[in-house]
Amino acid sequence: MPGSLNPTALVRLLRSWNIGSGPAYRELADVVRLLVLDGRIPLDVSLPSERALAETLGLSRTTVTAAYASLREQGYLVGGQGSRARTGIPHRSIPVSMPGLAIPDGVLDLAYASLPAAGEAVHRAFAEALTELPALLPGFGYDAIGVPTLREAIAARYTAAGVPTSAGQILITSGAQHALNIVLRTIAGQNQRVLVDHPTYPNALDAIRSARCRPISVALPEGAKADVGDGDGGGWDIEAMVSTMQHQRPAMAYLLPDFHNPTGRIMSNLQRRRLVRAAASADTMLVVDETLRELNLDGVATSPLAAFSPAVVSIGSLSKSHWAGLRTGWIRASEDMITRLVATRTTMDLGGPAVEQLAAAHLVRSFEEPLVHRLETLRGQRAALMGLLAEHLPDWKPERPRGGLTVWCRLPSPSSTALTVIAPEFGIRLAAGPRFGLGGAFEQYLRVPFTLPPAQLEQAVLALRSAQEKLDESPQLRRTLKEAPPAAIA
Ligand SMILES: Cc1ncc(COP(=O)(O)O)c(C=O)c1O
Repeated sequence: MPGSLNPTALVRLLRSWNIGSGPAYRELADVVRLLVLDGRIPLDVSLPSERALAETLGLSRTTVTAAYASLREQGYLVGGQGSRARTGIPHRSIPVSMPGLAIPDGVLDLAYASLPAAGEAVHRAFAEALTELPALLPGFGYDAIGVPTLREAIAARYTAAGVPTSAGQILITSGAQHALNIVLRTIAGQNQRVLVDHPTYPNALDAIRSARCRPISVALPEGAKADVGDGDGGGWDIEAMVSTMQHQRPAMAYLLPDFHNPTGRIMSNLQRRRLVRAAASADTMLVVDETLRELNLDGVATSPLAAFSPAVVSIGSLSKSHWAGLRTGWIRASEDMITRLVATRTTMDLGGPAVEQLAAAHLVRSFEEPLVHRLETLRGQRAALMGLLAEHLPDWKPERPRGGLTVWCRLPSPSSTALTVIAPEFGIRLAAGPRFGLGGAFEQYLRVPFTLPPAQLEQAVLALRSAQEKLDESPQLRRTLKEAPPAAIA
């Protein structure tokens, strides 16, 4: 059932919208457009009436009318008149983009943290898959649990990593996001709590909300050095997790212990052990997203979380290690849980495509082959980005990631949304910090991926510096920021 957004909720989202770089109506329209594009304003909801919004913002009604007219003209408000118009996305704004590369209009896309296919390995795997396809053609083609050779290959990798696993404990999915949706709908009922790291992966928050569960967050310690090994690293506040689990009894926890997105932290084995114990005593199902686990840039030795308890549900994917276009991921769980997950999966789709799974089996069997080069490239790009940030944006405080694809930067002021709004003027596209949290948190943070080659990273950082300078030069902005309340952390 489509809903509506009340003025207070919209104003909360607009907190530091007044960036002072042009007419107020245009800035208001720009920020609403951004909020629609990045999902903070849902699609198909009606905005507050012009009069109510003008009153709440202390603006003239003409300004709000002009902003709404501009949004309508651009296709971000559709149907009806005035406040009965609903949010939408114009078809032309969906870019035919290559994630992580320049999109056709020349804008560097820093909103995606993803890479092109790993060398020739992916193409070769598809060629080999095609030669194997005839063996599957006599079957019906429906296989809700996944092609056996792929499940066996994934199970063998877990076993080799110290987590004995049978093919019956693996369910193949169309990527990690699909896997999370299946898990949520199996484990967490409507209105039940789901504990998340804070910050966390934005699409996971969207999935939790769309499953009608209630995300509750435990903050990651500020700028912690994610010390690993047998020392008790500071990457996660396990005490806070234990206490939240005990008091709020979440049905499920969705966590990213392996090169956490966006911070790139890794959880120590000691913290893993304590986390598993706490979840067991609170009856909370631990679900870990290991999508980035293979992007281990510093060669940190940890055991997969499932090594500490058979009750852990693990989600994996080839999207970051090989290519997101494979749309291949998996869930590892007990065989009983897999049976329940398959039952949920068939309410959504009846299985994955066969050729992709055959190709994925080849890639999983020789996992390291393309990865060695990928890791080397990423190490160079991480070093380049850290150096560029230190040189050109010395006030920013980037946290050095131990792995993954992104650097989480603390900004000198809460200006992430403002930067994101003006970024296209400087040839870049950004994901604003609040996308990674609840209740408007992380306005003072920005995730910067190191997925581009060094020359483009330099171009991107120079663009970030120019955008930052533009904000610094605007006295109106500085005033707005001073008046802005501290970002709430839910
Ligand atoms: C932590 C995390 N989980 C899941 C995904 C989505 O993965 P997939 O492409 O396999 O659906 C991503 C992609 O960025 C991610 O970073």
